[in-house]
Parts: sequence; C-alpha cells; structure tokens
Amino acid sequence: MGCSDSDYAYLRQLVLAESANLIDPSRNALFETRLTPIARMAGASTLEDFVSLLRVDRTPQLHRAVAEAMTINETSFFRDGKPFDVLRDTILPNLIEHNAAQRRLRIWSAASSTGQEAYSLAMLLCEHFSELTGWDVKIVGTDISRQVIEYAQRGRYRRMEVNRGLPVRMLVKYLVRDGDEWEVTPDLRAMCSFQYANLCAPLPKLPVFDLVMLRNVLLYFPQQDRSCVFSDVYRQMVPDGYLMLGAAEQAEDSTNLFQAEFAKDCYFYRPTPAS
Ligand SMILES: C[S@@+](CC[C@H](N)C(=O)[O-])C[C@H]1O[C@@H](n2cnc3c(N)ncnc32)[C@H](O)[C@@H]1O
Repeated sequence: MGCSDSDYAYLRQLVLAESANLIDPSRNALFETRLTPIARMAGASTLEDFVSLLRVDRTPQLHRAVAEAMTINETSFFRDGKPFDVLRDTILPNLIEHNAAQRRLRIWSAASSTGQEAYSLAMLLCEHFSELTGWDVKIVGTDISRQVIEYAQRGRYRRMEVNRGLPVRMLVKYLVRDGDEWEVTPDLRAMCSFQYANLCAPLPKLPVFDLVMLRNVLLYFPQQDRSCVFSDVYRQMVPDGYLMLGAAEQAEDSTNLFQAEFAKDCYFYRPTPAS
C-alpha cells in the first residue's frame, strides 16, 4: 500500500490527538502493517484510500481504532526485575503497615497492556504477603487499547510470553497449562480487573490508589501530555502513596507533585504533601 508524506503526517497527527503517542517518521512503515486490517474492514483497499476516508469520515470509533492499532504493547512478567524487588522489600511492607487498620489495598497498573504487570503484582502479593489474607485487595489494569484489555482479561499466555521473566516455580504455581497456553489461576484473576482508560483524556471513575505503576508509556508522550498525566495520577493517589515509572522515565517535569526516592538502584516517587 504506502501513501504520501502528507498522508503519513496526517496519520501521525491523528494518533497524537487521539492517544498522545508520538510516532517518529522513521516508523512510517508501521502504519501499513498495523492499519491494513482496519482499512480493509472500512472498505479501503490501499492506505492512501484509507487516509482519504479518515479525512472525511470523522466517526470517533474509526479514529480511535487507528490510534489503538498504533500502540506499542511490549511488556513481560516482572519486567525489569528490580522494581519488583523494591516493591517486595520496601514499598509493599510500608503500605501494608500503613493500611493495617483499614485492611485495604488498591493498585493501579496504568497502561497495563496484555496484563503481565498486573498479574506479576498479584503473584508478588500472594507469594510474600500472607498477612493480606482477608484484606480487600484490588489491582486495576487500564489501557487505551481494547485489544490488549481483552487479552489481559482472558489471562491466557503463550509459551513465548511465560518464558519471559516468569520464574518456572511461579509459572507452575500461578498458571495452569492448557494445550499451548498457560492460564492464570482463578485466585489471581479475582484480584485483577482490566478496563479502558485513555491517560490523556478525562479518566473514568477509578478508585484512589495506594500504588500506581505507570511504566513505559510516558516515553511515547510529548512533555505537555506527560505533565497532564502526572497531575491526573497525583489526584488519583492517596497522599502517602507510591508511584513507579519505567526505567527510562522520570517525573522530571512534575517535581512539584512528586518527590523521588531511591532504593536498590531504582527510583520511585511519593506525592509531595499538599501545602
Ligand atoms: C510499552 S506498553 C507498557 C506496558 C507495561 N506498563 C509495562 O511496563 O510492561 C505501553 C502501553 O501503553 C498503552 N498506551 C499508550 N498510550 C496510551 C494512552 N494515551 N492511555 C492509556 N494507555 C496508553 C499502550 O496501549 C500499551 O499497552
């Protein structure tokens, strides 16, 4: 298929407006791979025709589908390792002590992709914090892509996915093999829910969270959108909460909202107390 530079520029602008994701022109070829199925469903036989259609057909669902199709959904169980050590040794013990009276814990996997981060958190809690038995614990995963939300809700993973980051001991304890796939156990699934949320639009009704995992998504956003996301996340957290970002991300443009702390080679953030 392929299309003109101005068509690619139009598509980049559409994705930016819908999802705040910046797409570098060097990745133009990705439009073709990702958008061909949507173009066909919309009745367009070339990418060029599809762009012409998008320019006149302002149906929000169609524009949203384009943005969702262009998201990068790369993830894995216990991604980057160290943040989960910090959660186990520092953050979760502190939160559990802090919330002991109310016996309630709310965790947000913002930009949860196919769910591995949320299920890793659930495994971490089951594995190391038996004192949470009887607590009201909820892990909420949100993402802009409905496709990955459905995937996360199914809780079924291919061999290639469980082979990335998941120790064998945890695999056989928390997932059950079914043919070529592995399914997350009902106990773990009961702790996790997944729903649509665009981080760059008004958020749906969500709980107030003790811990927010906002990893490997801000790096795709322009600075202005990152600042808006930090403000929204700040409002969505308890004052004594914790925020974790991806290894390549910092709250550098929101230092007034969050203060960095450091443990085990890993930064995490606490909301700045309101003055
Ligand atoms: C690279 S994955 C990161 C997944 C997980 N947080 C991790 O660190 O492994 C980025 C995810 O962010 C989602 N995303 C991109 N733009 C978004 C937006 N505006 N609102 C919500 N989610 C978004 C994508 O759909 C994708 O699933």
